[in-house]
Amino acid sequence: MTVRVGVIGAGMIGQDHVRRLTTTLPGARITAIADLDAARAQQVADSVPAARALPTGNDVIASDSVDAVVVTSWGPAHEESVLACIAAGKPVFCEKPLAPTPDACLRIVAAEVAHGTRLVQVGFMRRYDSGYRAMKQALTGGRIGAPLLAHCAHRNPSAPGTFTSQMLITDAAVHEMDLFRWLLEEDMLAASVLFPRRSSRSPEGLQDPQILLLETASGVHIDIELFVNCRYGYDIRCELVGETGTLSLAQPADLAVRGEGAYSERVPADWRERFVRAYDTELQEWLNAAGGGEAAGPSSWDGYAAAAICDAALTSLESGHRTPVTMRDRPALFG
Ligand SMILES: NC(=O)c1ccc[n+]([C@@H]2O[C@H](COP(=O)([O-])OP(=O)(O)OC[C@H]3O[C@@H](n4cnc5c(N)ncnc54)[C@H](O)[C@@H]3O)[C@@H](O)[C@H]2O)c1
Repeated sequence: MTVRVGVIGAGMIGQDHVRRLTTTLPGARITAIADLDAARAQQVADSVPAARALPTGNDVIASDSVDAVVVTSWGPAHEESVLACIAAGKPVFCEKPLAPTPDACLRIVAAEVAHGTRLVQVGFMRRYDSGYRAMKQALTGGRIGAPLLAHCAHRNPSAPGTFTSQMLITDAAVHEMDLFRWLLEEDMLAASVLFPRRSSRSPEGLQDPQILLLETASGVHIDIELFVNCRYGYDIRCELVGETGTLSLAQPADLAVRGEGAYSERVPADWRERFVRAYDTELQEWLNAAGGGEAAGPSSWDGYAAAAICDAALTSLESGHRTPVTMRDRPALFG
């Protein structure tokens, strides 16, 4: 079955997903594209056979030639599009964040509950990375006993000048927040942000690096180094320590070189290179579910949980204190 897909937001990741759905993954045909920048929407539509540029996201959602929607606009615009997709009964893949605040996410959760079946998948692609999937399988298979703590690093070579200290949490650490809820199958209890010495190579006013400490309901402690101007490459690390062993994310390079007395592996340039296969798997699994008129994978509830953890971490960033994560009770729709 071919799923006819509409895309709202034809920027950086929107174009990457358009390429993926057009040239890499079977089972999709992009039929409609909208962007606030009409010329950009037209340019991207022109690169896809039989796709039309439409004036607004709501036109995409309402179109008879669209079965399912990919939302890759800016975070504050996500809520309106996702709510319109639920009202139209169309499956929707929404890039993270589902919405910028817990309240906005809860409005989406409530709309989906009222609809009665899941329609929303949130773009937390790390759940689809083969390394993290192997880690989860080993953990649930009992390879290291009960998990106790984890050490992570999330390093980008450089961040745009518009990047703020808050965005290390909302744009970077949000991936680890969702990942560990999925990996450990439990919610977060509290968040604390620590401030190491600031890198002189980071833009003025940016608190970079930061260390985020997350505590789960059962007492697992997760430390995440966030460093968005590390200069040397995009480097994602994760080591989970259990009662009888540890699980470490292997480095992702396909090739290691030994020569001239040295050993080297390529460090990915950016998130697109590092997680290219995870994005492919993520959208393929979304397409498979959307073909049946529903959604799988990270849910609107997971989007809400991530927003609630971000809220606590942002409060800690301001106050310097450990901050509890507050969450509502989970509706039955989300298991
Ligand atoms: N999962 C990931 O790893 C990952 C990576 C990058 C970006 N993202 C997320 O994807 C989203 C887009 O990021 P980006 O880097 O592509 O941004 P971008 O600025 O490159 O593109 C966003 C596009 O959306 C358009 N847009 C904004 N509001 C709109 C609206 N109401 N209707 C139609 N078009 C609208 C803008 O004109 C722009 O072209 C963000 O939420 C971002 O956090 C996720």
